[in-house]
Amino acid sequence: MSIGSDIAPFLAIMFVPLLSASFLAFFQAAAAATSFESKCLSFRPEKYIDGATRNVRQFVTAGTTLTFPDNDATCNRASQAVSSDMCRIALSIRTSRTSSIAFEAWFPENWSGRFLATGNGGIDGCIKYEDLAYGALNGFATVGANNGKNGTSGLAFLNNPETVIDFAWRSLHTSVETGKKLSKKLYHETYTKSYYLGCSLGGRQGIKSAEKFPKDFDGIVAGAPGVDFNDLVSWRARFYTITGPKTGADFIPATAWKTWIHDEVLHQCDTIDKVKDGIIEDPTLCKFDPSTLLCSRNSTTNCLNQNQVQQVKTIFSDYMYPNGQLIFPAMQPGSEINAVDRLYAGTPFAYSDDWFKYVVYNNALWNASTFDFLNARAAELLNPGNIRTYPSKLPKFESRGGKLLIYHGQQDHQITAFNTNRFYENLRGRRSYASMDEWVRFFRVSGMFHCSSGPGAWVLGQGGNAAQNGIMFDRQHNVLKAMVDWVEKGDAPEDIEGTKFVNDTVSQGVDFTRRHCKFPARNTYTGGDYKKPSSWKCK
Ligand SMILES: *[C@@H]1O[C@H](CO)[C@@H](O)[C@H](O)[C@H]1NC(C)=O
Ligand SMILES: *[C@@H]1O[C@H](CO)[C@@H](O)[C@H](O)[C@H]1NC(C)=O
Ligand SMILES: *[C@@H]1O[C@H](CO)[C@@H](O)[C@H](O)[C@H]1NC(C)=O
Ligand SMILES: *[C@@H]1O[C@H](CO)[C@@H](O)[C@H](O)[C@H]1NC(C)=O
Ligand SMILES: *[C@@H]1O[C@H](CO)[C@@H](O)[C@H](O)[C@H]1NC(C)=O
Repeated sequence: MSIGSDIAPFLAIMFVPLLSASFLAFFQAAAAATSFESKCLSFRPEKYIDGATRNVRQFVTAGTTLTFPDNDATCNRASQAVSSDMCRIALSIRTSRTSSIAFEAWFPENWSGRFLATGNGGIDGCIKYEDLAYGALNGFATVGANNGKNGTSGLAFLNNPETVIDFAWRSLHTSVETGKKLSKKLYHETYTKSYYLGCSLGGRQGIKSAEKFPKDFDGIVAGAPGVDFNDLVSWRARFYTITGPKTGADFIPATAWKTWIHDEVLHQCDTIDKVKDGIIEDPTLCKFDPSTLLCSRNSTTNCLNQNQVQQVKTIFSDYMYPNGQLIFPAMQPGSEINAVDRLYAGTPFAYSDDWFKYVVYNNALWNASTFDFLNARAAELLNPGNIRTYPSKLPKFESRGGKLLIYHGQQDHQITAFNTNRFYENLRGRRSYASMDEWVRFFRVSGMFHCSSGPGAWVLGQGGNAAQNGIMFDRQHNVLKAMVDWVEKGDAPEDIEGTKFVNDTVSQGVDFTRRHCKFPARNTYTGGDYKKPSSWKCK
């Protein structure tokens, strides 16, 4: 619909009698191509956006690998392959006297009429170029922004509350308003429907948007959402105080977590779902007891001392204030292999450390080893930039017909999946599941780590990493397309069928697929080849 060309119809009328059909088709195609390219190259986005400076305007052809020499090295995104012809715009946009965002819009030539905004992660200021490429490839006019700062460090927040506000909600909202306006100017048409795709911090951004700007999106896909953000930061800060430093006498080394502790979790819980495949379908059913690993006279290797057993128990218990009030739910068992890389690594968790230093206390000397529940309370009371994101209802978003699709990996090693069960139930309150199904659906993705990867069928079209391209852009296999069909046809997803590629390599083919159930249903094995989705039922 967007490959509108101003001159092609005119040329067609003039020359129809003179030209053969195939020659004409060639000529029209060439005219259309030149027209979008030249529209792009003469586009002046800065004219339409207050406080904007243009940094990039380029027409990019499919097959190009873009490089970003100025991109902060900590973002680890030096280049991005692009698979569609598109017009790339990059702007700096002032958001206050002391803050600004870096904004990107990737406008595909073959536009579906849809708008898509993408999110960020961690406490970072990193544009997810892979998600921009993914959106543009699938026909969306796609935008992303740096959330107010560059790179993964939190230092830019120090004594700059405006940057915290950008990070909490303003960067995304600004990029939505900017992107919608620019797409209209470039394509000379208004978008049909507006979507959001993000995971982790990005999941939180999507839900925040439904709360604060209910008109920004018709459909929000929120993965592993970092909701109840202040308490999430505290939950993560606490691990260092549980494990102690690497040099501590009771420190549990990574190899123990990755091998025999994880093996014992699977030994106790893998077959609750009746299939021994290294995947715990529903970790809420796994009541892992680490005391079986206690060292004894018979058992002196691959075992835990009393203090270590207690550490593991604490990790797998809810985090509470001394008065018993919940701060954040327990880590779900099954996540050990990867959680050890950051949360159980015996070093302060960088995102939490930076958040307390540069946002909560504005004190670079704050010491992560002194963290306790008083810090958790202080962060929650301060609620910087109103970042909390823990709504108990979203009436404006719901009543205007907005749809929210949430997914969460059940082996998540950075945000416990149990928090999303809690979030969903809090949003539901006393309502029936059926009435929630009208506008919010939550899928538990077994065997998926934080946002992607893992032993399960984790490829679901949730973002632009390589394995996404090996699946069809269809509503059964792809969360973004499932959302499009829900919004545009009222065709709501009952389940999402994830794909596992052999060795996570598309060219090696599909290992298995599995349908992930809509909460509160759980995937239940019913017999037959467990690698076939038909051997499971959502109950
Ligand atoms: C344009 O996008 C549509 C789907 O939106 C697709 O079917 C078609 O093949 C695309 N055309 C080109 C030239 O890429
Ligand atoms: C972030 O980096 C971009 C260039 O990639 C630059 O234009 C912008 O000023 C930087 N923002 C901040 C807050 O440093
Ligand atoms: C230790 O070994 C003895 C003899 O082999 C056995 O009876 C006992 O159950 C073992 N204890 C544990 C804790 O495994
Ligand atoms: C942080 O506090 C701990 C415990 O009080 C102390 O051992 C450590 O040296 C402190 N670290 C820094 C960098 O001050
Ligand atoms: C699996 O993929 C990894 C990383 O791409 C590669 O190093 C490894 O050789 C692959 N293994 C097999 C069996 O193909």
